[in-house]
Amino acid sequence: MKPLKGLILSGGKGTRLRPITYTSAKQLVPVANKPVLFYGIEALADADIDEIGIIIAPETGAEIRAAAGDGSRFGVSITYIEQHAPLGLAHAVLTAEDFLGDSPFVMYLGDNLLRDGVVELVETFRTQSPDALILLTPVSDPENYGVAELDPDGRVARLVEKPKQPKTNLALVGVYMFTPSIFEAARAIEPSGRGELEITDAIQHLVDKRLRVDPHIVSGWWKDTGQVADMLEANHLILDDLEERVEGELVDSRVDGRVVIERGARLERATVRGPAIIGAGAQLVDAYVGPYTAIGPDVRIERAEVEYSIVLEGSSIEKLDGRIEASLIGRNVAVRRSDGLPRAYRFVAGDNAEIVIL
Ligand code: TTP
Repeated sequence: MKPLKGLILSGGKGTRLRPITYTSAKQLVPVANKPVLFYGIEALADADIDEIGIIIAPETGAEIRAAAGDGSRFGVSITYIEQHAPLGLAHAVLTAEDFLGDSPFVMYLGDNLLRDGVVELVETFRTQSPDALILLTPVSDPENYGVAELDPDGRVARLVEKPKQPKTNLALVGVYMFTPSIFEAARAIEPSGRGELEITDAIQHLVDKRLRVDPHIVSGWWKDTGQVADMLEANHLILDDLEERVEGELVDSRVDGRVVIERGARLERATVRGPAIIGAGAQLVDAYVGPYTAIGPDVRIERAEVEYSIVLEGSSIEKLDGRIEASLIGRNVAVRRSDGLPRAYRFVAGDNAEIVIL
């Protein structure tokens, strides 16, 4: 088999992650202080895939290029491929046809995280040589996913998008392995009801043409970070594997459990209970940071408590009585209590912001 290439889909609209995605690509939202996209690039690099194409959207492409660069820091070579509009995953495959040529490839959704990476899957694909290999995972709510039905030989017999009465609990994970046969399939299908060329339809086309589509059941966790709750859960899962490292400065402060304090961060009369990560240059003063929290670089937390949350670079949280929990706070956001009167809430909230007060 020719060497595999990688294709990471990092375009799309990201509507479910607004307002964060008004100003930034969702694939660059950090999980444990590292952009989601980088986990995907690293997963492919670990599987010895060194030529990676990244699908970008016109609106967020420049930011993604700036973040991932030419790929040399990951030991890979990255080619950026602009998709003029988010017309579906199968459309993204067709957009990348010149880059992929006649190589088999791994397609990886840029907002997905796969705990065990793709090394084993790539190995299976290389040795078994099916026409396509799809990843499946058992879920408790298959009606919300693309669901696979298998035939008695264990091959994929049918794929159904969000079935009302699912016949199995095997959901499609956002990583796929294809041979060039997928191009013809993607050209043969019509846009779905939501106007997209669906990858499930293209794979179904392969099955209908009697090509061999093998399933692979994922054992470790898999997470699609399309929504805020998923982002927080992904942050939780990644932080669970954190290795302790304290390089910042601690003054009258306490750090419990697995915690990373980056160089240049400063804690003064603060408590951090892990798993948690505190970015470079962050300042925690009279503050508490609880489990499963990622505090970005240059964030300031003073007389406040934050738990199970992600706070992005440059934000500040000051003088709050209650604890902030299950929150995703963007860049340079300021949350503070003012001492002045009248004692009222005052907001400057962007479109689609969500503010919950108990
Ligand atoms: P989705 O999460 O399915 O779509 P989206 O990014 O438009 O988000 P939302 O539903 O919240 O509006 O996309 C999965 C991944 O694939 C994600 O990283 C974006 C990428 N993508 C493309 O690159 N091109 C496309 O045409 C589509 C639909 C998605």
